[in-house]
Amino acid sequence: MNDFTDRVAVITGGGGGIGKAMGAAFAREGGKVVLSDVHQPSLDAAVDELRAGGADVFGVLTDVSRLESVEALRDATVDHFGRIDVVCNNAGVASGAHGRLWEHEINDWRYAMSVHVYGVINGINAFVPWLLEHNDDGHIVNTSSHNGGFAPVYAAPTYATCKAAVVTLSECLFGQLREIGSNIGVSVLFPSGRTEGILNTGIWTPRERPPGYESEAPIDTTSKMQMWIDMKEQAGDPVQFTPLSEVADTMIDGLRANRFWMVEEGRFEDLVQARADVILRRADPQYPIGA
Ligand SMILES: NC(=O)c1ccc[n+]([C@@H]2O[C@H](COP(=O)([O-])OP(=O)(O)OC[C@H]3O[C@@H](n4cnc5c(N)ncnc54)[C@H](O)[C@@H]3O)[C@@H](O)[C@H]2O)c1
Repeated sequence: MNDFTDRVAVITGGGGGIGKAMGAAFAREGGKVVLSDVHQPSLDAAVDELRAGGADVFGVLTDVSRLESVEALRDATVDHFGRIDVVCNNAGVASGAHGRLWEHEINDWRYAMSVHVYGVINGINAFVPWLLEHNDDGHIVNTSSHNGGFAPVYAAPTYATCKAAVVTLSECLFGQLREIGSNIGVSVLFPSGRTEGILNTGIWTPRERPPGYESEAPIDTTSKMQMWIDMKEQAGDPVQFTPLSEVADTMIDGLRANRFWMVEEGRFEDLVQARADVILRRADPQYPIGA
């Protein structure tokens, strides 16, 4: 996809963080944007912000964990803009799980999977049939993470497991689309930016969960970012913040190049290599980002 003029991007989890940055970047390139989020106040604020910057954007309240909600997002996009070109399945959460893996509540897993895994599956089920029928030049971008997507941070099993699933889902989707001769693009995004640093988004702060996914233990809704900064600084590794626009640029460059692996060169290469080496040597799992 070279020319973004009047192309339409739908972005889930667009009420903040990386999703909002992707919307801003797509609008900057001349495209039209639909931001969707489960949190109405964030969604309204993000839409206002992009509109103030001149974007042709509208917002749709959407819960990606529910197929009918994502189908309604698709229909609202077609009603408003008449087309869909790019679908970014990007919504994400910190699960808020407590303790070790075997101490996690089943709802910790169900909640993380409902957003990260079923969110992507619902995005695929709602949008791919439409694209196959109406726009074979469309593109699906699924947000994974180096945590799980390349190798797990073992302290965060729900997150890492879900993000591994996002990579596998994307690879299968790519294979099946090519098998039927479709041109629809598929990518998996590994947010990092070009410069090394923290991505200051809402993902560091676990939120209260929706009905049906409650936790027996109270969710600690304080930000985990400071903990991470302290840990890094104690290890003599001062922390910087990476502009979220850099992540959005990885996505825009990847769309231009029709690139499946949307990951910045020079980032995570040691990690990918370490995991491949461990598997090939039948060694115990031990990666540069263990905890
Ligand atoms: N921030 C990072 O360091 C980082 C690194 C790698 C991957 N990611 C991934 O990037 C994506 C975006 O996260 P972010 O860092 O911008 O965090 P964020 O919290 O700022 O944005 C995520 C958005 O998703 C929304 N959301 C949550 N549940 C939803 C649901 N059921 N339906 C619709 N929207 C929902 C939230 O309200 C929020 O606005 C996530 O998939 C995350 O896992 C983030």
